[in-house]
Amino acid sequence: MNFTELAKKRCSVRSYTGEKLKKEELEQILEAGRLAPTAKNLQPQRILVIESDENLEKMKEITNRAEKAGAILLVCADKKNLFVNPFDNRDTAETDTSIVATHIILKAAELGIGSCWVCMFDREKARKAFSVPDDFSVECIISLGYPADDFQPTENHTKYKDMNELVYFEKF
Ligand SMILES: Cc1cc2nc3c(=O)[nH]c(=O)nc-3n(C[C@H](O)[C@H](O)[C@H](O)COP(=O)(O)O)c2cc1C
Repeated sequence: MNFTELAKKRCSVRSYTGEKLKKEELEQILEAGRLAPTAKNLQPQRILVIESDENLEKMKEITNRAEKAGAILLVCADKKNLFVNPFDNRDTAETDTSIVATHIILKAAELGIGSCWVCMFDREKARKAFSVPDDFSVECIISLGYPADDFQPTENHTKYKDMNELVYFEKF
């Protein structure tokens, strides 16, 4: 599968079998995240892996995308380890962790494992539930799991805006 095929194959999976992720597969997925580029190579990503029944249950109170997931990743950034752009004081926590998350969901897709990137959750609630250290920012959740037999990608998966709306040559 070349990159374009993989990018097309990856889709958000929101219905899983409930089977736990195999250790070797999870390791490969986490390794793909480790290989991601980050600003100044500071590697601020700090990822909490949630696999136990107890913590998966807890995660269900944070997001409805945890239902029957094989593992959940709570992706955080270490605020002490961030590049800050001196021109506008913006740090790259969200950018760095988003690239990490992208590597993760694409690697999962390559292995035939479903994933869903989740931003719609209460970060403070997640922080408290999983005792996230004060100096870590909570960035996103990624659910992972084996797609349920009846799983189908949503319509959104193949709805792409026209290239002309997205890309401008030489001037806006
Ligand atoms: C930054 C980001 C945040 C997202 N947050 C959520 C979310 O909170 N809940 C959800 O079900 N899907 C979420 N998604 C999945 C998108 O809805 C999905 O990627 C988009 O509709 C395209 O569909 P596809 O992933 O199947 O190709 C998110 C995706 C991204 C990239």
